[in-house]
Amino acid sequence: MRVLGIETTCDETSAAVVSDRLGGDGGEILSNEILSQIAQHAAYGGVVPEIAARAHIDVLDRLIVRALSNAKVGLEDIDAIAAAAGPGLIGGVLVGLTAAKGLALASGKPFIAVNHLEAHALTARLTDPLDFPYLALLISGGHTQLVAVRGVGDYRRLGSTVDDAAGEAFDKVAKMMGLPYPGGPQIEALAQEGDPHRFDFPRPMLGRGGADFSLSGLKTAVRQQIIKIGTTTDQDRKDLAASFQAAIVDVIVDRVRGGVRLFSESEGRPSGLVIGGGVGANGAIRRALTRLCAESGLRFVSPPASLCSDNGAIIAWAGLERLKCGFTSELGFAPRARWPLDAVASETHHGKA
Ligand code: KG4
Ligand code: ZN
Repeated sequence: MRVLGIETTCDETSAAVVSDRLGGDGGEILSNEILSQIAQHAAYGGVVPEIAARAHIDVLDRLIVRALSNAKVGLEDIDAIAAAAGPGLIGGVLVGLTAAKGLALASGKPFIAVNHLEAHALTARLTDPLDFPYLALLISGGHTQLVAVRGVGDYRRLGSTVDDAAGEAFDKVAKMMGLPYPGGPQIEALAQEGDPHRFDFPRPMLGRGGADFSLSGLKTAVRQQIIKIGTTTDQDRKDLAASFQAAIVDVIVDRVRGGVRLFSESEGRPSGLVIGGGVGANGAIRRALTRLCAESGLRFVSPPASLCSDNGAIIAWAGLERLKCGFTSELGFAPRARWPLDAVASETHHGKA
C-alpha cells in the first residue's frame, strides 16, 4: 500500500509518499519533500499565519509533483491521499486539506483527514516494530502531552501542559536572548557550551502527582534573571541556555515518570515510550529519556530527529495506518484549528472519522 501525505499545519510545506513493508512491520519512506518557510517569517520573530498560508499555496503543487516523481510513482499507484486536517494555523491547514481533497476527487482514491498530533504519536511505528499500547510524549511548538496510545484512533491523554508548550518555552526564552525563531535548536547549541548549574531555575510540578506540565514559571524565572544581569555576555547566554535546558529536562523526566505510573494503573505495562514533535529532536531530552527508560526497564523508541519535526511522511504514515483499519474520511471534512486527540478517539470509535 502507498499513501501520499500532505502537511501544511505550520511553517513547513511538505508532501511525501510512504509504503508499508510486505509482510513486515514499519514503513518505507519513498519520498519526503519538505520546504521550510522560516526565512519568510524570520523578520517577525515567529510564524505569521497569513504569510504561512500564502507560502503553502505558492509551493504545494510543485512539492506534490516532486514527491510522486521522486517516489517513482504516479497518482494511479497511490492507494489513498492523506492531509493534516489540524490542529494548526487554519489558513495553512485549509491549503493542504483542499489540495488533498481535490486529488482524491480527481483520482477516485480515498481521502484521509489526519490529526497532526496523531501523526507524531504514530511515527515510532513507521521506523520501528512497536505494538500497542505504548506511552507517547508529544512535545512540539504548540503542544505538550503524555498520551496512552492504545491503537490507531484510540488515544487517552494522561497529562498536558496547563500553560506553555515545551517548544513555546524554548522559543520564548530564545527570543528574550535575542536569538532568531525557532529558538529550540539555538538554545540547544548554546547550552552545549554553558554551565547548567550557574542559575538555579525552578522545576515546576516536580514530584507532583499526575502527569501535567507547567512551564510558564520557568520561562518567567529566566526573564527575571536576564533583567537582573542587565547586559548579557556570550558566556551569560550560554549559561542561561544550559541552566534553562537542564530545568526543562528535569521537568520532562519527572512528568514522564508520572505518565508511566498513570499508564500502568489503567492500561498495564506500556510496550515502550516514544517521543514525537519538534522538541523531540533535542539531544539532552533524548539522552535523559534514554537513561530513564534504561533505569525502568522500558523500551525507548525515538524516531530520528528529522522525523520528529513536521513533515509529510508522518502524515502519510498515519494515513496508511488509518487506511489499514478502514478509517477513511468524508470529502466534507472541515479543517480544525484545535483538535484534541481524545476527540479523535471518540470520533473513530463512533465510526465518523
Ligand atoms: O513539531 P514541530 O516541528 O511543529 C509544531 O507542530 O509545533 O515543533 C516545532 C518546535 C519549535 O518550538 C522548535 O523551537 C522546537 O520544536 N524545536 C526544538 C529543537 N528543534 C526544534 N526544541 C528544542 N531543541 C531542539 N533541538
Ligand atoms: Zn508538529
